[in-house]
Amino acid sequence: MTAFALPLLSSSSSNTKHFHFNVEWKSVTRLCHRKAVLTVNGEYPGPTIAVHEGDHVRVVVTNRVAANTTIHWHGVRQVRTGWADGPAYITQCPIGAGKTYTYNFSVVNQRGTLWWHAHFSWQRASVYGAFIIYPRTPFPFSAPLQPHIPLIFGEWWNGDVEVVEREMMLHGGGPKTSDAYTINGLPGPLYPCSTKDTFIQTVEPGKTYLLRLINAALNDELFFAVANHSLTVVEIDAAYTKPFTSPAIMIAPGQTTTVLLSADQAPGDDSKSMFVMAARPYLTSVFPFNNSTTVGFFKYRTSTKIQENNPPALPPPFTLPDNLPALGDTPFATQFLGSLRSLASDDYPCNVPKTIDKRIVTTVSLNLQDCPLNQTYFPENPPYVFNYTGVNPVTENMSAEFGTKLFRVPFGTKLEIVLQDTNFLNPENHPIHVHGHNFFIVGRGFGNFDVEKDPKDYNLVDPPERNTVAVPMGGWAAIRLITDNPGVWFVHCHLEEHTSWGLALGFIVENGKEPSQWLLPPPSDLPPC
Ligand code: C2O
Repeated sequence: MTAFALPLLSSSSSNTKHFHFNVEWKSVTRLCHRKAVLTVNGEYPGPTIAVHEGDHVRVVVTNRVAANTTIHWHGVRQVRTGWADGPAYITQCPIGAGKTYTYNFSVVNQRGTLWWHAHFSWQRASVYGAFIIYPRTPFPFSAPLQPHIPLIFGEWWNGDVEVVEREMMLHGGGPKTSDAYTINGLPGPLYPCSTKDTFIQTVEPGKTYLLRLINAALNDELFFAVANHSLTVVEIDAAYTKPFTSPAIMIAPGQTTTVLLSADQAPGDDSKSMFVMAARPYLTSVFPFNNSTTVGFFKYRTSTKIQENNPPALPPPFTLPDNLPALGDTPFATQFLGSLRSLASDDYPCNVPKTIDKRIVTTVSLNLQDCPLNQTYFPENPPYVFNYTGVNPVTENMSAEFGTKLFRVPFGTKLEIVLQDTNFLNPENHPIHVHGHNFFIVGRGFGNFDVEKDPKDYNLVDPPERNTVAVPMGGWAAIRLITDNPGVWFVHCHLEEHTSWGLALGFIVENGKEPSQWLLPPPSDLPPC
């Protein structure tokens, strides 16, 4: 695993960046369990894509395995190029065994940290990597000259992930929990037979580093902290923020957070020059979960000699950072997310719609259902109005209906979507991801959304801009966006188990009046079903 993956697989012709992704099996061992892992180009995690704002990107994906696959560029707006978005059966049929599909798109008016992952069943467990967009203009913060360090959090199962998914769908209960969390594919020393698989990043004392944090875990929100160091948040989901400093961060699956870390501690002798970084889940569900902690280290370079090939020392005895929030620390999660603000400067204005054309209120929950009925379901309002967070979850309103409904909006609609959690089964934090659009999180709260009262407290000045919102456990989040990107867009919970269970919908944005507001025609190599 290289911490600073360069676009080695790319070549440049003018502003087009070319990449080749071969989806293939690779044998990988973690926790003393060796198994075949689905990868891109044999790398786990996958290669970093690094481009510049405004670049055209061309990724030739060849499927060299017997299963179907697709790749999604998570957070890339895909303006008019929905065909390159990637979710299977939403904007494309999967790329079949032995087949090739070329994803062609431009990266417009976005800069920062995003990522890519497979978007077919649970393949993203191992098929994922960073997608970095370098700005064309200087960073709006004093950016360090040191290499930027991607830190991608993932989950590892000792067994076959396909089997975990299949069993979950068969039994209807939660999936077998993962065996480890990982930092850049490495679980670290707190797992059995894992000390040698520890991520260690060397840093120079006195320098500042830009860390690109990506939560690629399948089913868990995470807290992350570095012992004795604070983190300054400067960008989320490829949109700049007002910088603020925090002892730790909360990051939901699908989200990215770019932070600055100053190596400002006095390095001691060898054992004192290692600072623990750790991630563990933010837990809001009562269902079984993996409550373990993945650990890596920042190692201060203590010798003045630059020894590039010096193998990193094995970690010394250590304790977890005391600034790492506890598993159920909702107050920290709430306060951290509430501190996020768009930069909202002259150069990077915050274009939040101040008025809306349409408000959609939709409940987000897990329910039980007995048998499939051929019905459709997902209206723009809950089918029953009830006390969403006050009912007895076990006795009331448990039966959901099967179905797929789309909601459809004209081009250019100023849309508000209120995502209301319920306490069916259990109230839980849900990271809701919208494809094809960024949105502004104008309000969040606990309990039931109140259409009379809550909009008065919205932040319409500098709300955070994201592509994935962590809807508070037993609460709601209101997001606003302008539907300026025609196409069919997937909206779903980025907890993979919930996507499998159908916590998802399709969202159609119609073409506008001008040809420049139309979805482009499908490419000729779009895979057939
Ligand atoms: Cu990260 Cu539908 O995707």
